[in-house]
Amino acid sequence: MAIDLNSLIYPLFVKRGRWLREEISSLPGVYRFSPDRLLDEVLSLERLGITKILLFGIPEKKDWHGKAGYKKDNIVSESVRLLKKSLPGITVITDVCLCAYTLHGHCGIIKKGKKQIDVRSTLNVLSRIALSHAEAGADYVAPSAMAKDQVRAIRKALDKKGFKKTRILGYSAKFASNFYGPFRDIADSAPRFGKRTYQLDFTSRGNALKEIESDIKEGADIVMVKPGLGYLDIVREARRKFRHPLAVYNVSGEYAMVKAYCKGQAAGDKRQGMERGLVGEILASIKRAGADYIITYHAKDIARWLNN
Ligand code: PBG
Repeated sequence: MAIDLNSLIYPLFVKRGRWLREEISSLPGVYRFSPDRLLDEVLSLERLGITKILLFGIPEKKDWHGKAGYKKDNIVSESVRLLKKSLPGITVITDVCLCAYTLHGHCGIIKKGKKQIDVRSTLNVLSRIALSHAEAGADYVAPSAMAKDQVRAIRKALDKKGFKKTRILGYSAKFASNFYGPFRDIADSAPRFGKRTYQLDFTSRGNALKEIESDIKEGADIVMVKPGLGYLDIVREARRKFRHPLAVYNVSGEYAMVKAYCKGQAAGDKRQGMERGLVGEILASIKRAGADYIITYHAKDIARWLNN
């Protein structure tokens, strides 16, 4: 398998607790960790050759405005501090969004009595979240709310406070996909009403390339297409059009499909072999389309396979 571990980014989920490691039923092999145990996990990842992680926070308490995302010592910032102190060689990327922190499950601020996202207050809150991660030492912040001008707003807020070196990974072309289902179980973040109209409609290529272009102009250091497999036409076009680092998110539903397929077909070593073949092919396809980085829940398995 010609996969370079340096191009892989491994998503990790953190929640409060002590020595906690809860498996997520819809994502076999993926866990929620408490910060202490997360540190232990990242240490073993580093030994396996995985040095880039994407961190998601799961709050103890949700509210209407997503305060748990930016309050002092929020779960992500606390974890970033711990990681940076003990494992400085790890590239820490933090997801910046509101859907896990708000009671309504939408990715932005909704004013009382309204149904739509309020863009200005959303940009304010996203900037506060990003700043709290930057202060803790995050290498990259990754805004995933699909709020208009989110990269520009965050870049400006970071620069103003002196975090010029904190980089931005933009979730630039994020489609309203059915493949996010298992992820929404992790953080209980499915919208309670309405749809995520701010995510792109997958029935056409629509504005995907424009979204990528505007993220580049706004200052994104890396741009992203999400999900992966069904969207390689976009990846290819983006690769042709822009000379800019490009990431692809091989999302939760894509991972869960591979796991379920292999489980239904075989057991033991045979299942392992089957999974290895499928994962190798999927990642090769994403690479072939033009991705520089692949965010994938398969990363740890791949590293184990390559180390054996
Ligand atoms: C948050 C976010 C989502 C994912 C990454 N960041 C979910 C969503 O938009 O509902 C999905 C990742 C996955 O499915 O693995 N906005």
